[in-house]
This record gives sequence, C-alpha cells and structure tokens, in this order.
Amino acid sequence: MKLMPDQVAVITGGASGIGKALARALAGRGLHLALLDVEQPALDATAEQLRAEGAKVEALVCDVSDAEAMQAAASEILSRCNRIDLLVNNAGVGGSLGPQWLSQPQDWQWVFNVNVFGVANGIRAFVPAMLMQPGRPAHVVNTSSVAGVTSPPFLSPYVAAKHAVVGMSESLATELQYMAPHIRVSVVCPGGVQSQIMHSERNRPADLTVISRTPPEMRDRIKAAFEKLMADPMPADRLAQIVLAGVERDEPLIVTHADHAPEVLARAERVAAAAKAAA
Ligand SMILES: NC(=O)c1ccc[n+]([C@@H]2O[C@H](COP(=O)([O-])OP(=O)(O)OC[C@H]3O[C@@H](n4cnc5c(N)ncnc54)[C@H](O)[C@@H]3O)[C@@H](O)[C@H]2O)c1
Repeated sequence: MKLMPDQVAVITGGASGIGKALARALAGRGLHLALLDVEQPALDATAEQLRAEGAKVEALVCDVSDAEAMQAAASEILSRCNRIDLLVNNAGVGGSLGPQWLSQPQDWQWVFNVNVFGVANGIRAFVPAMLMQPGRPAHVVNTSSVAGVTSPPFLSPYVAAKHAVVGMSESLATELQYMAPHIRVSVVCPGGVQSQIMHSERNRPADLTVISRTPPEMRDRIKAAFEKLMADPMPADRLAQIVLAGVERDEPLIVTHADHAPEVLARAERVAAAAKAAA
C-alpha cells in the first residue's frame, strides 16, 4: 500500500522500541497515528514527544490480550479518526529463558496472551472496519520475529508464538485475497533490534509470575545462546524504514536482518527437501 498523508495507522505496543520507531517514521510520512499500549507513562511520554515533533497522535491505554478492550479501542479510534488504513499488531513480550522441559504454564499463558491472542484480537477488532472501505487500499502488519521462521533454543513459548504469528498472517493474507483484495498483509521477522524487549517483565501480570527452574549450571550456556541471537541489534529507526519500504512494496514476508539469512534459508531448504521427498 502506498503510504500517504492523512491515512490512519493503528500501532499496538506503540509506546516503545519498534512500535515507537514505526510511529515516528509514519508520522514523518504525514499519517495520523493511533497508539495503543498497556504502559500509560511510556505511552503518554511517546505521544507527547511525537506531537511536539508535529505528529497527529491519538493515545489509548489498552491491553492487547483483552478482547473487549481492543473492541472498545477500535470503536473509539473510529469515532475519532473515521477510518483505518494501516493496522500494526506489534505489541509483544519476551518471556522467560530456559529449556522447554522446565518451562511453566504461566509463561506460555503470558507470551501467548500478548503475542498471539493480542494479534488475533487486533485483527478481530480492526479488520472489519478496513473491510468497509472497499475502494481504499489498506494494510495489516504483524510483528513476528526471525524466531518465527527459525527455531532458536531456550525461548520455546516465544518461538512458538512467533511461528503462530507467521501462520496467522499468511492465512489472513489468503483469506483477504479471496474476500477483500484491497487489504494486504505483511509479517515482519526481525533479528535483534534496540528496544526494551529485554525488560518485558515490566509488563508481566502479577498472577502469571514465574520463578526460574533452570539450574544455575545451565544458565551461562543459555545466556550465550540468547546473546548470539541478540548480537549487534539494529537501531529501531532503521528497522522502521525497512518495514515501511516492505509495506509500500506489499511484501508478504519482511525479513530484515542479513546476518540471520543463512539460518532462514537453511530451514526453508529443510522444508523444501522434505516436500520434494514426499512429491
Ligand atoms: N527487539 C527485538 O530484538 C525484536 C526482535 C524481533 C521481534 N521483536 C518483536 O517486536 C515487537 C515490539 O517489541 P520491542 O522490541 O519494540 O519491545 P519493547 O518492549 O520496546 O516494546 C513493546 C511494547 O509493547 C507493549 N506491550 C507489552 N505488553 C502489552 C500488552 N499486553 N498490551 C499492549 N501493549 C503491550 C510494551 O509496553 C511496549 O511499549 C514485539 O512483538 C517483539 O516480539 C522484537
């Protein structure tokens, strides 16, 4: 979709990191922003900062995992802005590090509530309004991760959730191709990006708290594997420009980090080899 002034962009997790960088980049193109985030002080600060830079910003405190709250946010944004052109389902959390056999139900619940159900809630709340604008192109961007197209260790709930986001996005894209081809879908799969993701615990609900069961002797190896994944993180503003370019080219899958390309290709080749063997 060509990005144009006065289009309305909804961004979840818009108060920090990648969401904030996307907001700033879209404001630079003249779009009207609607930022949703669970963290009020950060949301207020970001909205104020972007307004001071000249952006038109609506800011709503909203937990993406709360389906009713997302529906209410969609109604509120529509009543303020009258249209929705771009939906960015970006809010996400990291979860705990550790081997899968020691993972805990609360961790799976939290990571899936935000990273998977949050995306589903965003689609259910906002896509119906986009369907009502048939003459006008619209676009959905879902933030997955390189962990959604590869399978790094010691992050199983996160990896599973991000694979789910890729599947949901591709399935949605096909549904829309049949039913409403004016709406396109892109799923973004970044490697490490400078943000507050390492401090996601700040947003973990108290009833989903976990105490790590990972034995101390395993922790250094796990930390090393994680640091490899997050090595040399990309500035969020640079990622945002790559995403906007991908949206304007209607790219269904936006892989942003060249250093992860070999792993992504190796996995794709394993899938292709298995399919060839079956053919
Ligand atoms: N930073 C990375 O290296 C990286 C890499 C790949 C993918 N991602 C993905 O990018 C997205 C953005 O993360 P980020 O790196 O900018 O981290 P971040 O912590 O800086 O930003 C995430 C934002 O989401 C908000 N949020 C968390 N839970 C929420 C909820 N329940 N409802 C509404 N908002 C909520 C946070 O308050 C925060 O503003 C996530 O989906 C993350 O998984 C990040």
